Amino acid sequence: MTPHTGLGHAVAKIILFGEHSVVYGYPAIALPLRSLRMTARAEPFDDPNRRTTLTSLGWSGPMTEAPAHFASILRAVAVATEFAGRPDAGIDISTHSEFPAQRGLGSSAAAAGAVIRAILDAYDVPATPQEIFHLTQEAERIAHGRPSGLDAMATSANAPVHFQAGTTTELDFALEAWIVIADSGIQGSTRETVGNVRSLYETSPETTRAALARLGSITEEAVDDLRAGNIAPVGAKMTQAHGLLAGLGVSNAPLDALVAAALEAGALGAKLTGGGGGGCVIALASTREEAQRVEAALIAAGARATWLHAPSAGEVAA
Ligand code: PMV
Repeated sequence: MTPHTGLGHAVAKIILFGEHSVVYGYPAIALPLRSLRMTARAEPFDDPNRRTTLTSLGWSGPMTEAPAHFASILRAVAVATEFAGRPDAGIDISTHSEFPAQRGLGSSAAAAGAVIRAILDAYDVPATPQEIFHLTQEAERIAHGRPSGLDAMATSANAPVHFQAGTTTELDFALEAWIVIADSGIQGSTRETVGNVRSLYETSPETTRAALARLGSITEEAVDDLRAGNIAPVGAKMTQAHGLLAGLGVSNAPLDALVAAALEAGALGAKLTGGGGGGCVIALASTREEAQRVEAALIAAGARATWLHAPSAGEVAA
């Protein structure tokens, strides 16, 4: 078939439990946010005198001149064109995102996944979800160093996922609650926070190992709570997880302030989500009204953007 315009998409995600500890083989739970989409377009062309271009996050130009923060997208293009058997293809690539980058919402994995799918679509090359996962991980290695794979999996998932040591299981729970997502407006570097936890592991192995193990057991216990529909203990575990993550040095004053504001406004629990050092916090509320109260408190405490997510319905409201 002749190449044609290819489209691909992936979605944002939040980590409910298990960021950082997942890197050490403990389990994590992540929820795809199906209505916050990342879309990519790939338009192949024949002209050998034209260079492949990228249009993304307000930047547009020849791919070879793309700023450093696009390195993982460049890798995604390289691995996808190679997989398609067109390593020298000329393509105009663009991405469009409905959620901010570098806020722990999985934007790098979502962009890579969407671009890879768009390129494979343009050349009508079929790929299994596992093959797409491995291609996305190639790009994530540029963004994160040694990614656990959680983001690559969750940004392509249709349902909440339990992820451990590369193995994913879909979780079938109906969480009759609301999650408020609040963006601190601060860019967090996952590569940096993962590196800091690694250094802490080397300098204080015992306390660090104990904190990571506790984060792992909290996650497993939360799976049982979620399946049983016990919302209050899920909230309490979120707040506990935040304390442990703060102890590992991946929180900061603005994130702690957002967590405190959410709890003060009546949230059942709150924590940072994703790599930390900035990015988002998430708070749990049992009704839409409570969630809106928590949302207002988060905005008053300095959140730059908020989203309400009802996991049972897969709904996200800005
Ligand atoms: O910051 P995010 O959304 O990319 O989440 C990273 C999750 C970590 O556990 C910190 C790293 C990883 O590779 O799983």
